[in-house]
Amino acid sequence: MRGAVNRYLAGQFARPHGAFGRLIAPLLNQSGAAMMRDAVSALALQPGERLLDLGFGGGALSAAALQAGAIVTGVDRSAAMVARANARFAAAISAGQARFIEGAAEALPLPDAAVDCATSVNTLYFWQDLDTVPRELWRVIAPGGRLVLGWQTADSVRAWPGHIHGFRAWDDAPILSAVARAGFTIGPLSSGHHRMVGDYRTLVALRSMA
Ligand SMILES: C[S@@+](CC[C@H](N)C(=O)[O-])C[C@H]1O[C@@H](n2cnc3c(N)ncnc32)[C@H](O)[C@@H]1O
Repeated sequence: MRGAVNRYLAGQFARPHGAFGRLIAPLLNQSGAAMMRDAVSALALQPGERLLDLGFGGGALSAAALQAGAIVTGVDRSAAMVARANARFAAAISAGQARFIEGAAEALPLPDAAVDCATSVNTLYFWQDLDTVPRELWRVIAPGGRLVLGWQTADSVRAWPGHIHGFRAWDDAPILSAVARAGFTIGPLSSGHHRMVGDYRTLVALRSMA
């Protein structure tokens, strides 16, 4: 019974869907709160900067970025999360401050150099591989821009039995290598801990001017 529940929850974390998908958004916002707060802090957003929030889920990070004055583009493969964000952020969307698009991290539905900075928290466990998404992020971030990634450590991912249903527990080193291979300069890597997610990392990477 517990195995079936874990399998269902893992599927919802990977791509929230159906009636329960909308209910899971507040849980995502709660469990990822510290990680998203650290990511926003690492982004050091300036008012008017264009931010991509990739895999925005429940939207807590997008909300914080809007508060900081950023212009937010959210991309998520979950139609349920996009619908929820379109309702939650209707005022910001009307004001031209935000938009939320259904799409895959592996083929971002954005033109080259579309944003000044990008972030993705708690999504890399679901990427097809470690190289494709950083390359896509490099393409859509304007020269001189920055990327902030947040992830639970491999041990923390493995601590939840449900991770076997589709989560990839990456060590830090291959993540950093893939980000560097995509063309980014690796910046500060910080560590955090939260009772709901265990140990996690926040990485800042810089996209060169070329
Ligand atoms: C575990 S939730 C994390 C949400 C939020 N960033 C947070 O930390 O609470 C993962 C989100 O990323 C989205 N996602 C996962 N893999 C994706 C992919 N390959 N392309 C686009 N979105 C993806 C899921 O649909 C889901 O909304």
